[in-house]
Amino acid sequence: MSRAGDRESAASFAGRAAIVTGAAGGIGRATAATLAVRGAAVLVADRREDVEATAAELAGSGAEIVARTVDVTSPAEVEAMVVAAAERFGRLDVLVNNAGATGVPTAIADQDPAAFDRVFAINVRGVFLGMKYAMPHLAAGGGGAIVNVSSVTAVRPLPGLGAYSASKEAVVSLTRVAALEGATAGVRVNAVLPGPTATRMIGTEDFSGDVPLGRAAAPEEPAEAICFLASDAASFVTGETLLVDGGMSAGGPAQRWGAD
Ligand SMILES: NC(=O)c1ccc[n+]([C@@H]2O[C@H](COP(=O)([O-])OP(=O)(O)OC[C@H]3O[C@@H](n4cnc5c(N)ncnc54)[C@H](O)[C@@H]3O)[C@@H](O)[C@H]2O)c1
Repeated sequence: MSRAGDRESAASFAGRAAIVTGAAGGIGRATAATLAVRGAAVLVADRREDVEATAAELAGSGAEIVARTVDVTSPAEVEAMVVAAAERFGRLDVLVNNAGATGVPTAIADQDPAAFDRVFAINVRGVFLGMKYAMPHLAAGGGGAIVNVSSVTAVRPLPGLGAYSASKEAVVSLTRVAALEGATAGVRVNAVLPGPTATRMIGTEDFSGDVPLGRAAAPEEPAEAICFLASDAASFVTGETLLVDGGMSAGGPAQRWGAD
């Protein structure tokens, strides 16, 4: 734990070991890249097999990167992922539960119940399983940090995204409970709530009119917030939700009322 005197190194992950789920691309890949550049050994996990290619690219920076194909809805696969990281790196300090899916946008009246359950399985059960299996390792190592990737839709739900919006609010609730349960063991648990971010998830959709800053985020922007919360720079932050949404949840549109 860093104190006032060593704040300058608080953003470093030298000697630390991390897991990032959903790391084949997008925000997960950017997070893994940032952690690696700052010194962490990283296990990158995804259900997509091209996570191997992502790992090979990230390892080019000289970092220790391990790829693993994992379905975060599977208790056995998530437990094995955590054990593999702890054994390979000899420690575990950080878990980023980033894997997520929107499902096909559908009004509640038209939603297929199985499709609803699938979104919850990935976004909520996946986060739950990651925390369930990682928290004992983090606690045994004297503490650590978990960052769960929620969404601005947790606080500003979108029509057609009922399952997704509700699942991301559930992630916030789980984050707070885990923060309370992990506190005495030194395990901090926080959530990042990205706004529209230029990844495969939103494709070519134009959100510029919805975002006061007038654009989607680059994946590196929420990744930076995730890494802050995972680092010693956030040593007194737990149970917190950090919106990285270009002002989307701040209130109304950026334009002044009455202006042309
Ligand atoms: N892009 C946005 O606008 C946006 C906004 C708010 C929140 N988010 C959240 O950010 C996170 C990352 O999304 P992204 O934007 O980088 O999109 P993305 O689609 O590039 O990344 C999501 C990753 O999760 C993986 N994944 C999905 N289901 C999985 C499973 N069962 N097991 C393992 N991996 C699985 C996917 O294969 C994919 O690589 C998600 O949780 C998403 O909900 C994204």
